[in-house]
Amino acid sequence: MAYETILVERRGRVGLVTLNRPKALNALNAQLIRELEEALSDFDRDSEIAAMVITGSEKAFAAGADIKEMMEKDFAQAFSSDFIAPWAKIAQHRKPVIAAVAGYALGGGCELAMMCDIILAADNAKFGQPEINLGTIPGAGGTQRLTRAIGKSKAMEMVLTGRMMDAAEAERSGLVARVVPLADLVDEAVRLGETIASKSQPIVAMAKDMVNAAYEMTLAEGLKLERRVFYSTFATADRREGMTAFAEKRSPNFTHR
Ligand code: HXC
Repeated sequence: MAYETILVERRGRVGLVTLNRPKALNALNAQLIRELEEALSDFDRDSEIAAMVITGSEKAFAAGADIKEMMEKDFAQAFSSDFIAPWAKIAQHRKPVIAAVAGYALGGGCELAMMCDIILAADNAKFGQPEINLGTIPGAGGTQRLTRAIGKSKAMEMVLTGRMMDAAEAERSGLVARVVPLADLVDEAVRLGETIASKSQPIVAMAKDMVNAAYEMTLAEGLKLERRVFYSTFATADRREGMTAFAEKRSPNFTHR
């Protein structure tokens, strides 16, 4: 498939998607979201791929939804076309998706990063929800996922003022898993994907599902479901192999890598 707004490659068992609208700082227009979703879905169906990485350029992961594409829409067009709906699919893949963020991750760019399962940040990353400066509010999860990630007070400050957070603050606040030097960002994200690829893939999918369940359930419901899924891992050969390998002081040789 020939894409115009993204670059797609395989690095071992990791599917790498690079957002590629450099002149617009990777502003996320409808075509880019469509292409990104198609590439991720292809990787998600591909049994040789175990994890995906989304990255941008050194200057910008993505500077937001494409303002120029949105600016002329009126309420009726926005509402009836529901033009943000296609974004939601990006958060619904089974395999882990890692955002490797360098430079600006603003507005929809920050929201896209937060749709991913893990965010790795380069030391020059800047996160923000500047929609308030455009007379609007985040529309692809910024008010919801940011609040869950960093808490009400910080999220409120960012959403109400448009202030950007640097990489160190983002790590301190729990928005990102780790900060790495810019030059190592993509390699480090791919390495993280390869580490996940070395595990049992059905178990990875269960683990991802359960962490995500924490966002949707009460604690009591989540704990109950977790225990059930934990017991269900005992139905797999990989669970037996994992524990046996530990007892025999060797590395596990999982069947479903
Ligand atoms: C369209 C954009 C853009 C965007 C940058 N560009 N961000 N085009 N949509 N979100 C374009 C600029 O118009 C410019 O095009 C080129 O990219 C380079 O940008 P500059 O502004 O010249 O670069 P710089 O001075 O380095 O400033 C970088 C920046 C600034 C601070 C990131 O570009 C900026 O503030 N961008 C907008 C950030 C923002 O408000 N994001 C939220 C969008 S709303 P030309 O043609 O002039 O060279 C949103 C809503 C999400 O995301 C809701 C649901 C999805």
